[in-house]
Amino acid sequence: MSVNNVAKIDKLFSEIDPQIGEFAFDDNVARVFDDMISRSVPLYADVQRLVPVLADLLDHDPIKVVDLGCSTGTSLIHLARALPDRNLELIGVDNSRSMLAKCREKLVLLANQDPTDAELLEQIRVFQDDVRSFEFSDASIVLMNYTLQFIDVESRPVVLSRIYDSLKNDGLILVSEKVVHQQPKMDDALVSLYFEFKRRQGYSELEISRKRDALENVLVPLTVDQNMEMFRAAGFAKVEVLLKWFNFATFACYR
Ligand SMILES: C[S@@+](CC[C@H](N)C(=O)[O-])C[C@H]1O[C@@H](n2cnc3c(N)ncnc32)[C@H](O)[C@@H]1O
Repeated sequence: MSVNNVAKIDKLFSEIDPQIGEFAFDDNVARVFDDMISRSVPLYADVQRLVPVLADLLDHDPIKVVDLGCSTGTSLIHLARALPDRNLELIGVDNSRSMLAKCREKLVLLANQDPTDAELLEQIRVFQDDVRSFEFSDASIVLMNYTLQFIDVESRPVVLSRIYDSLKNDGLILVSEKVVHQQPKMDDALVSLYFEFKRRQGYSELEISRKRDALENVLVPLTVDQNMEMFRAAGFAKVEVLLKWFNFATFACYR
């Protein structure tokens, strides 16, 4: 069974009362999240494909992966399935009770459908905690896909320094973010292309504009350069862009 076909279709912003206010990872979002993210984030499936490939490059035993902002566990499930012959330690962290409840529900559902899958998925442990304070050590890879953008900008350097200290010497962090362009005209053009992408995914003008309003001040994107400077300042010796789509970027930062 596919990782993502247990989610309901995302109709949230066609139904939700616009007065409700800021976007939150609550029960309403958790219910439709897998559909929402796969239709709202360009190259999301490619990022998921990239994760096990990066993990498999490492000569670690075990390969310890810490997914900060793991949501419904999609990346960890992909990893468990893609690398059945590697010794994996898969840890997910999220501060949303609703998202983790959905994650656990998904793990049970998938495990009940296939005993081989069940054994692989047993490697996954998830914790409800804040990524700003969650403590871990000796990680091979830290994943932070579309999560850093939700952390207050002032806390981001501290979070990244702590992650740096929690990695093995040749470990890395994979960070995916929505990004802004420093030239306003170019930024507007890229955002227009993004809204066009969302229309192609079946979202209406109303849904697109309501979600944009709800994310205002909740999701704070930086430029590619600002992100790269922040990663370097946290100690990462080598930082590169592995994937880029108009206003989205995926960075690999090597310790
Ligand atoms: C866009 S989702 C991440 C998607 C996920 N990484 C994936 O690839 O499917 C952002 C997640 O970060 C979580 N989050 C936001 N701020 C957090 C914090 N301070 N501590 C822990 N989790 C946080 C949210 O609850 C949400 O599940």
